[in-house]
Amino acid sequence: MTTHSATAIAHPNIAFIKYWGNSNDRLRLPVNSSISMNLDGLFAETSVEWLDHLSSDEFTLNGESQTGESLQRVAYHLEILRNRLGRQSKAKVVSANNFPTGAGIASSAAAFAALTAAGVAAAGETLSERELSTIARLGSGSAARSIPSGFVEWYAADTHEDSYAQSLFAPDYWDLVDIVAVINKGHKAVGSTAGHSSAQTSPLQAARVAEADERVARVRAAISERNFSDFAEVVELDSNLMHSVMMTSNPPLFYWEPASLRIMKLVREWRAEGLRVCYTLDAGPNVHCICVRSDAETVRSRLNKLSEVLTTLSANVGGGAQVLQQ
Ligand code: PMV
Repeated sequence: MTTHSATAIAHPNIAFIKYWGNSNDRLRLPVNSSISMNLDGLFAETSVEWLDHLSSDEFTLNGESQTGESLQRVAYHLEILRNRLGRQSKAKVVSANNFPTGAGIASSAAAFAALTAAGVAAAGETLSERELSTIARLGSGSAARSIPSGFVEWYAADTHEDSYAQSLFAPDYWDLVDIVAVINKGHKAVGSTAGHSSAQTSPLQAARVAEADERVARVRAAISERNFSDFAEVVELDSNLMHSVMMTSNPPLFYWEPASLRIMKLVREWRAEGLRVCYTLDAGPNVHCICVRSDAETVRSRLNKLSEVLTTLSANVGGGAQVLQQ
């Protein structure tokens, strides 16, 4: 029997060395390599059904039928899958995130990783992890990193085929925890796709990119040696560099809020006291506090006591994208 439907899950990820800016916007080829960990317990679950009778693609997200830009972005990705898989039929896509939207967790990474894995499986095909990662990248750059498991590196390259992500270490290699201090649940004013294309307008982008490979090597080594103090230093530096680029772009992008800065300073104080915790922020004001598991409860309870913190979410290191049902 030919398979026409499949369900897959994929976790979001948090970058330790950030992706910001493309050498090719259409192919989402990044100007620098990046490193991340997948976030266990949080996931997008997506079903794809290729249906011959459909006249256009359909997309339901968190129970709501999608139109406009949200549908278009999924339909564009389905077109990429159709071309690769040699299919004509349209698809019905049903997806849900088990984490709140606007909680400072990039849902597009998990979404496009799960859509890619489910779309390919629904066509009865098996592609290599490397190719799945390149295809996911076309939907949202950071989705390339949600295909492989655990601690992941995504390679900058000049061609579509060569810019893929690969697992560096399995999830249980180092028991890091990401505690997200949610201070604002609103949607971001400027999304990352627009941000990537304005990154080169910042006079600081060239300097950020020039030493990115060095920071990638330092974070890779710090994870390999489970050396938290080295890790913390580079992760915070890299986040600060990306936000410096954002703030000096045209138009300038200010994602930090006063509360973000307050938490960043507290995290550095707590580390000076001996807690193994550091911060990193994506394209939003919420602060990801990366810590070792033995310090996670202390960090979480301190964050929860701050009046600016609406809630905290906690995630261990997660696995790769997985097909659940075919
Ligand atoms: O995949 P995108 O286009 O949503 O870009 C993600 C950009 C950051 O989250 C800010 C950094 C990163 O490497 O994840």
